[in-house]
Amino acid sequence: MMREQAIGIFDSGYGGLTVMRAICDRLPQYDYIYLGDNARAPYGNRSFETVYQYTKEAVFALFEMGCPLVILACNTASAKALRTIQQVDLPKYFPDRRVLGVIRPTAEVIGTLSQTGNIGILATTGTVQSASYLIEIEKFFPQVKVFQQACPIWVPLIETGEQESLGAQFFIEKCTQQLIQQSKDIDTVLLACTHYPLIAPAIQSALPSGVQLIAQGDIVAEKLADYLDRHTEIASQCGVSGKRLFYTTDDPVSFQEAGRKFYGKDIEAQYLSLNA
Ligand code: DGL
Repeated sequence: MMREQAIGIFDSGYGGLTVMRAICDRLPQYDYIYLGDNARAPYGNRSFETVYQYTKEAVFALFEMGCPLVILACNTASAKALRTIQQVDLPKYFPDRRVLGVIRPTAEVIGTLSQTGNIGILATTGTVQSASYLIEIEKFFPQVKVFQQACPIWVPLIETGEQESLGAQFFIEKCTQQLIQQSKDIDTVLLACTHYPLIAPAIQSALPSGVQLIAQGDIVAEKLADYLDRHTEIASQCGVSGKRLFYTTDDPVSFQEAGRKFYGKDIEAQYLSLNA
């Protein structure tokens, strides 16, 4: 079989680049196409219907480019759009393609990382309201207690490059403390938004000593490797020439400048319209 199609990676903006970075480190041989919907980011405070519509448009665009598999490297999109796309849209329009999210793979392992069985979740309002982490972690670790805190201002601060400002420090400390105040037994805090690794040092400083902070990039990458091992019918359609393409629905020059901080390397980005 021809192997010339890329694995698609989607996020509302830049955050998914932190996941793509981990995936490319773990599975460098594959071809990847990243799509950031920067023109419409952030998604975190938007309605269920809007996040679903936007995510569907992006996933379909990646399918049109030939991706056999798309990873929603966005917790908000995974929480609000993944299930409907998997259960309604794929069978109807693209029965041979696959879409995976980041919540389930993270939930599958997060319970093994806590000694006390008390886990804190920092996420967008959309992810928190969906209760997806509560539901998914309960399935794998019913004894684990999960505490959530919405951080509605963090993604806008990061998307606008204000994450190191004094104002950002105030809101990082505020939300982190609101989480920790929910239980003194929390020993593990998950960055359940792919933008948050960029402010991880500031979050860590706001946590009591001894509380570990977990980013999900490496977890998602390991689970993807496992998925591709088990699904050779999908893996065999994924190109293996190590290509990386980057698309944004906003200005590509701005994407290249800001995206570098998330991806850790230079990026050459192209514009893509999702409304055409
Ligand atoms: N990176 C997205 C997530 O993981 C951010 C969502 C947003 O655009 O607010 O949830």
